[in-house]
Amino acid sequence: RSMRDYGCFVFCLLAALLAGFLSFLFVLVWVLHWREGLGWDGASAEFNWHPLLIVTGFVVLQGSAIVVYRLPWTWRCSKFLMKCIHAGLHLTVLILAIVSLVAVFDFHNTQNIPNMYSMHSWTGLTAVVLYGVQVLIGLLVYLFPFAPVTLRATLLPFHVFSGLLIFGAGIATALMGITEKLIFALSRSYNQSYSQSPPEALFVNFLGAFILIFGAFVFWMVTQPQWKRPQEQVPKTLPPNGGRASGAEERGEMSADPENSEIEYNREAARKRYVILDEAGQRSTMSL
Ligand code: HEM
Ligand code: HEM
Repeated sequence: RSMRDYGCFVFCLLAALLAGFLSFLFVLVWVLHWREGLGWDGASAEFNWHPLLIVTGFVVLQGSAIVVYRLPWTWRCSKFLMKCIHAGLHLTVLILAIVSLVAVFDFHNTQNIPNMYSMHSWTGLTAVVLYGVQVLIGLLVYLFPFAPVTLRATLLPFHVFSGLLIFGAGIATALMGITEKLIFALSRSYNQSYSQSPPEALFVNFLGAFILIFGAFVFWMVTQPQWKRPQEQVPKTLPPNGGRASGAEERGEMSADPENSEIEYNREAARKRYVILDEAGQRSTMSL
């Protein structure tokens, strides 16, 4: 891997972190400065936990959890440790998402606003339910030691695909929710309608842009094959000579003797067998 490629990854990561931080900052300033602040009173201050927690968790933290395996400086850490971090972050996101939904449902119920009428609420609830299923399957298949290697390997492409689909659906839902809220909140006062572009509207449009930019960088980083965490190092139990060339061969003293080359051939075959066996052994412990 070249230095230039490494620099490219670090650039994407810093860009994502900046966009993620700005998303968090903008949603926080939105609810504290332009809206009614935070509280648990059945009114707007309770609703406001909904955007704050969902943008912080379901967008920014979830995106971070997704790229965590790709950080080159963690490749020396054990796969098991990285799985604990990936799973722990996703579990935190799930809890924040549930609290955020409790806030908006409780707000609707105390204000006598119907539940689940909007497209936003349909895609949103679907995304959170699927996310819960993804966490459950992730824990059962990849963290706990029961699942066989074959199951782990078979499910991985589906795990990655459904994970990215849920992440994308979360971003689409967040953008819808932000738009809805701006239209609801700004249409009440006549001279403050969304279409007049008051400062709040402009500010919150930027929030939407940062969320999308964050998602784009996460998506890019996680779909570049050259930035994938390398497979666990395999050779541990190899044949007596380590499965490698003998001393003479290492010194470049290759023999053209046919008998010797047959030995070399057998040794090569044995080495391959050992590596495959060993890979399987590793995988059944923790590498997938
Ligand atoms: C309502 C989910 C992001 C604003 C809802 C409801 C759900 C939901 C399930 C229905 C509540 C009910 O029917 O009682 C989500 C998810 C999000 C998300 C999963 C992110 C992935 C946002 C954001 C905002 C927002 C960022 C910005 C303010 C609203 C508003 C409502 C609402 C205004 C009430 C109107 C409606 O039901 O559509 N959300 N939300 N949401 N959400 Fe979100
Ligand atoms: C990889 C998403 C929960 C284990 C991935 C990847 C995504 C993802 C997008 C691909 C990462 C990459 O290619 O670098 C999710 C989501 C989850 C979730 C959205 C929660 C809803 C879990 C849990 C575990 C887990 C609870 C349990 C340990 C793994 C493993 C990989 C992975 C082992 C393979 C990493 C590799 O290819 O080296 N996950 N995940 N995931 N995830 Fe999850």
